[in-house]
Parts: sequence; C-alpha cells; structure tokens
Amino acid sequence: MTRLKASPLVEALQGYSAPLEGRRGFLRLDFNENTIGPSPKVVAAIRAIPPEHYAMYPEYDHLKRHYAQVVGGAMEQVGVFNGADGAIHAVFQAFGAAGDTLVMATPTFGYYAPCAHEQGMTIQAIPYGLPDFHYPQQAIAQALQRQPRLLMICNPNNPTGTPVDPGWIQATAAAAPNTLVVVDELYEAFTGDTVLPAGLQQPNLLVLRSLSKTAGLAGLRMGFAVGSADVIERLERVTGPYDVNGFAVTAALAALDDLDHLRAYVEEVKAARHWLLPQLAAAGLRHHCHGGNYFLLWPEQDPEVLVGALRQRGVLVRPMTGKPLLNGSVRVSIGSLAQMQFFWKCYQECAAQL
Ligand SMILES: Cc1ncc(COP(=O)(O)O)c(C=O)c1O
Repeated sequence: MTRLKASPLVEALQGYSAPLEGRRGFLRLDFNENTIGPSPKVVAAIRAIPPEHYAMYPEYDHLKRHYAQVVGGAMEQVGVFNGADGAIHAVFQAFGAAGDTLVMATPTFGYYAPCAHEQGMTIQAIPYGLPDFHYPQQAIAQALQRQPRLLMICNPNNPTGTPVDPGWIQATAAAAPNTLVVVDELYEAFTGDTVLPAGLQQPNLLVLRSLSKTAGLAGLRMGFAVGSADVIERLERVTGPYDVNGFAVTAALAALDDLDHLRAYVEEVKAARHWLLPQLAAAGLRHHCHGGNYFLLWPEQDPEVLVGALRQRGVLVRPMTGKPLLNGSVRVSIGSLAQMQFFWKCYQECAAQL
C-alpha cells in the first residue's frame, strides 16, 4: 500500500520535538515554566466556571480589552492565541511565503525554524557573539539591508539569556519598514526590557507575550500578540475563530487581576538566582546566566548522563546537545529558592558519583 504523502514542504520538515511526556511529579527545570503554579484566584475562577460555559464557544473581547490596558494599547492591537506558539505559527503563516527570508540570531527558541520551513522560507541564522553570547547587532543590521520578510528577536533570548536594547529594536524596525520585526518577549518580566508601549507606534513591530513562564498557565495555553491593528488582523485571518479555549480565557483574566502574584514569583526567581550563582562560581563550574528564568551550565560529566542522574533524583533539566555554540551544556530553569537549593544538592550528589 502506498503511504499518503503530505505536502512536499511538510514531508521535508523536521518538526519541533520536545521531551514533554512523563514530567508530572518531577521538579520541572527543563521548560522554563513557572514551577509553583498560578495564583489561587486562577484556581477559584476555573472552579467557578458554570457548565453552560463549557458548552459555549469562547468570547475574547473582554480579555483583549484587559490586556490592551496592561500593555498600554488599544483592543484592536491585541491578538489572543493558543500560547505564544500559536502566535508564532500565525506570524509565519500570514507573513512568510516560499522564498522569503527569516533573519534571526542563533541559537534561539526552536519553534521559529520549523514554522519558517513549513512556509518554504529561507533562514539566515547569525550566531550570537562569543564568549558572552552577545547579540550580533551589526550583522543583523547588515542582513536587514536586503529587506528580509521577517526578523525574529527573542528578548531576552532563550537559551542564552541575551538581552537586546529595546531602543535599538525600535530604531532598527523604523529603518526596515519592509520587514516585520517580531520581538518574542516571553521572558521580559525577568529583565524589564520591553518595546511596549512605545513600539506600538511602529507599524512593522510585533510583540509576543504569554502566561506560561510567569503566571503558571503553561498547561492552559494563553499567548498574546501586540502590534498594529493591521498586523493583528492578518494574524487573525489565519487563526481559527475559537482556537483559544474558554478555560484559558477565564484563567488569563484571573491571572491578570492578580499581577501581585506574578510579580512575587518573578522576585522569588531572582532571589533564587542570586543565591545560586555564587554556588556555581565557588564550585568552579562553567556557566552562563543573563536574562530570563534559566541558565546554561557546562557539567564536567557527559551532559546526557548527568541529565539521567538528575532525573533519578526527581529533577528535570534540558541538555543542549546539538545546539550551535552550546554543545556540552544543559539549560536549567530557575524556580523558587527552595527548589534551586534542592537542585544544587542533587547536582552535587550526581557530580560526586559520576
Ligand atoms: C522564547 C519562547 N517563545 C515562545 C515559547 C512558547 O510559549 P507558550 O507556552 O506561550 O506557547 C517559549 C516556550 O518555551 C519560548 O521559550
């Protein structure tokens, strides 16, 4: 029997694969999610959803209005997506055509590349600068002179934590009006660097946010795109009318009503980072930690073996095997102080045994 083939682009595609199964009950330091859960107000709001709402298609306007207030824009400048990933996919579907170019710095978040390939786009990947993984500003500016379709900037970058100056991003977008400049601000809460709200004046600048990393809603899926009403409308053309479920909408509204919880979590992560970094330095371990709720660590042991040993102790971390510039490292998310103290105890036990 002949196997039915997908489109040629999809047959050639290497999808984004993430080891997401079997993680319950572990200390999850492998996907940069919030590690302690959402505000109790989110849990209460979900429990209070009347069964009638289960049966209805969701409504989005209230949430869009609310998020527009948070970022200082108008409701038409906000799109609601099934996680930031939903927004990323829509960006490529709406703006990327076969033969167009995506410019990005590498290594970066792994979902941009498959979305570009799915559209038949060409990727110009410019390496971060060593030894400190700085953003390759000059090379990016040069690449923009050829008027690529898309520039993706992950700020701060996952996994290197590299920050990019919001002023530079806005000036760069202004100088490249034929390029859609997308700023993935998923970890912005940990650095405070954002192009919003000033960037809303720039019609080719789009910002992505989500409630996965700070608000503890990764499992419910809620992402936002913020930009010019025209761009948002194009993204909505390629998004299903009820792609984001009603539970996520209710949870998002409750989470945005309790920004104190979110801010307290960010502070907890920063305190944990403040405690952990001197431990790594004192142990003489090569590491790199900048923005974001994560850091890179180059263990003395084989990273895959270390990851397995940590897993046996209940801790999940992510090997960066095969990522450009990062071979031999593991990425570790930063959770609460108690969680990082547990991680460090387990790491030392593993290092002593392996
Ligand atoms: C930079 C970046 N963008 C987007 C995402 C996807 O986030 P979401 O859970 O909102 O889809 C992630 C998740 O790891 C990420 O690191």
